[in-house]
Amino acid sequence: MTDRLTVERLSVRFGGLIAVRDVSLRVAPGEIRGLIGPNGAGKTTLINAITGTVPIAGGRVLLDGLAVSGLPAHAISRRGIGRTFQHVEPFAELSVLDNVLVGVGRHSHVPLAHAAFATPLAHRREDQAAREALAVLERFDLLAYRHTVAAELPFAVLKRMDLARALAARPALLLMDEPTSGMSESEADRAIAAACAIAEAEKITLLVIEHNMRVMMALAHTVTVMQNGGVIAEGKPSEIQRNRTVIDAYLGDEAIDAVG
Ligand SMILES: Nc1ncnc2c1ncn2[C@@H]1O[C@H](COP(=O)(O)OP(=O)(O)OP(=O)(O)O)[C@@H](O)[C@H]1O
Ligand SMILES: [Mg+2]
Repeated sequence: MTDRLTVERLSVRFGGLIAVRDVSLRVAPGEIRGLIGPNGAGKTTLINAITGTVPIAGGRVLLDGLAVSGLPAHAISRRGIGRTFQHVEPFAELSVLDNVLVGVGRHSHVPLAHAAFATPLAHRREDQAAREALAVLERFDLLAYRHTVAAELPFAVLKRMDLARALAARPALLLMDEPTSGMSESEADRAIAAACAIAEAEKITLLVIEHNMRVMMALAHTVTVMQNGGVIAEGKPSEIQRNRTVIDAYLGDEAIDAVG
């Protein structure tokens, strides 16, 4: 079976710093892959490189066997790679519903002529997009916030809105950067359950960066561990939890560094 995501010997440099070093990984369709590692390990930079928002110094990225590395970020997004943000960047002046509608827009495209003249087709598509967006908002307990402007939301609610936006676009692959940071344990559990339910129904493959090991161990099929830009271990969550190298590099510090 063709991988959903193939990363081949990917490297990213910032001046003299090698933030991602020769990273290779393969994620199967439908898989939930975990990505962990200490602060500064290169996890976010790896996502940035896959989505085309930082230049790569070497290597390749393929989606369903087709190279996407080298394409501009908007083209990579259109091919079906979505992301959520560690530090959410909402359209601050738009409502929660409109932020999510931006996500739905990717796969319910209205031809410009129809949109410009507000034809019945444009109206039907708009209705459908709004219905889809509201359904996703409901899954994330966000219906009450639908008319609230994003700038007014607390951080944990913004994180849920960002998840809703990204999932509403139904990408083939969704890269989630610390989706539960800033959430209470029960908020985290509800948000992850909602994300997984949508991902399963819509056949969205997930790669999830997460410092909450309780969430990660329950969620991931396979966990990849990064340190200093490179991959230091990969395996089932139960194996990773017992891996001496991983304990020394990361898990041992988890108690004092629980929220990254
Ligand atoms: N745009 C940038 N310019 C220069 N250096 C950067 C840039 N982005 C990241 N870095 C550096 O690259 C390294 C990896 O950072 P990155 O944010 O990818 O780590 P991370 O694993 O996501 O960490 P955290 O768990 O804290 O989010 C760090 O040393 C960071 O300072
Ligand atoms: Mg990060």
